[in-house]
Amino acid sequence: MILGVLAFLSSAIAAPLASSFASSLTQAGLFNGNKKLTFDSAGNFKVVSFSDMHFGEGEDVTWGPEQDVNTSRAHSHILDQEKPSYVVFNGDLITGENVYAFNATKYLDQVFAPTVARKIPFSSTHGNHDNTLAINHQDEIEYEQKHYSSLSYTRSDVGPKPYGCGNYWVPVYAKKTDLIPAVVMWFFDSRSFVSGNPSGPGPTPIEANFYWVDDKTVPKYIRQQRELMTRIWKMIPPALVFVHIPVQKADVLAPLPSAGDHDDEPNPATQGYLNNTYTGLDLPFWNALIEMDAGHGTVLAVTSGHDHGESWCARATASSGIPICFNGHSGYGGYVTEHSAVRNGRVFGLSLRDLRENVPIVRTWNSYEDRTVNEEVVLGPDYMPEFNRVVS
Ligand SMILES: *[C@@H]1O[C@H](CO)[C@@H](O)[C@H](O)[C@H]1NC(C)=O
Ligand SMILES: *[C@@H]1O[C@H](CO)[C@@H](O)[C@H](O)[C@H]1NC(C)=O
Ligand SMILES: *[C@@H]1O[C@H](CO)[C@@H](O)[C@H](O)[C@H]1NC(C)=O
Repeated sequence: MILGVLAFLSSAIAAPLASSFASSLTQAGLFNGNKKLTFDSAGNFKVVSFSDMHFGEGEDVTWGPEQDVNTSRAHSHILDQEKPSYVVFNGDLITGENVYAFNATKYLDQVFAPTVARKIPFSSTHGNHDNTLAINHQDEIEYEQKHYSSLSYTRSDVGPKPYGCGNYWVPVYAKKTDLIPAVVMWFFDSRSFVSGNPSGPGPTPIEANFYWVDDKTVPKYIRQQRELMTRIWKMIPPALVFVHIPVQKADVLAPLPSAGDHDDEPNPATQGYLNNTYTGLDLPFWNALIEMDAGHGTVLAVTSGHDHGESWCARATASSGIPICFNGHSGYGGYVTEHSAVRNGRVFGLSLRDLRENVPIVRTWNSYEDRTVNEEVVLGPDYMPEFNRVVS
């Protein structure tokens, strides 16, 4: 791939767009020095996504460190049950309004410890509780990159700093020698901000209080990267999308009958709201995903956390046929709903055979700390067809 890219680069040098293509290629993760991620010899690649860990919620009281230990235990049980190829921390890693600025990032050591102990590669998206007066998304990304460079794939390709810059993608190849990935994992930063200690409730910086993936930089970035993939790979690989706060379309899918918890309904807190009014400003991001999907089922799923009591997957005409999933609750921090007391991660079982179907499919289920699994579904053209009249 490196040779191919270099050839592509040198042939593009004379073009006026050369420098922007070069920087896009760097962004594209082709040169970031990480080990190439591959499917195993049986053709499988399994992702566990943990949301809403809320570490550091009560550092000065006995239940605080105790619940963090419990979160680590839950993660350890789930990792041992699933033995994933990759872990995604999908936002609200830290309860940032309850920690001190001077050592806030140190909580990331606890967040990642069970995954690092098992030498599993990982990356992160960030949530509203990761943006506070004590810490922000950029702080967390820089700490992760500095201290976990051998296992972490987290980048900051584009987006407003410091509150909304965790936008990037990571390719996974069928085998080491392949030049074109079998699947691409995309990660987006849904911004938003929670005020609070240690400096006391302060004014929210205006640029921090937007509850949606940045509409100015990110849709443009998605289109640029797609254009590049089309040029270099002649295709857009199937895409698995992670973002902490769900898109507003999730509100429309929530009442549909789907396996998993439905505790935070009827209207989960979703992107695009400002002062309790839906602004529609999450639509530029969502529409860029619809373009990527192109009605071909390219977007396998968009999965979120944020609403701890939601752990379902659904698709319908209203979501243009794109499956929207929730991760449930993997942390002992944060609020607990009636059915989310047993902590879980959402698992995506990718296989090369499933990805090579006419319309690619992905199996997904919830894996629980009590060593059970449940709510397995196969996302693809046959999932919830009665609500999805869009023909793939
Ligand atoms: C931690 O887990 C233990 C064992 O399940 C439980 O008894 C305890 O209440 C939990 N503590 C907190 C603070 O979550
Ligand atoms: C940060 O400092 C506080 C106050 O000294 C302490 O209670 C807490 O455990 C520290 N947190 C970490 C992650 O080191
Ligand atoms: C949201 O409400 C606050 C408090 O009423 C107000 O100061 C702010 O200007 C509002 N923001 C927008 C974008 O309307």
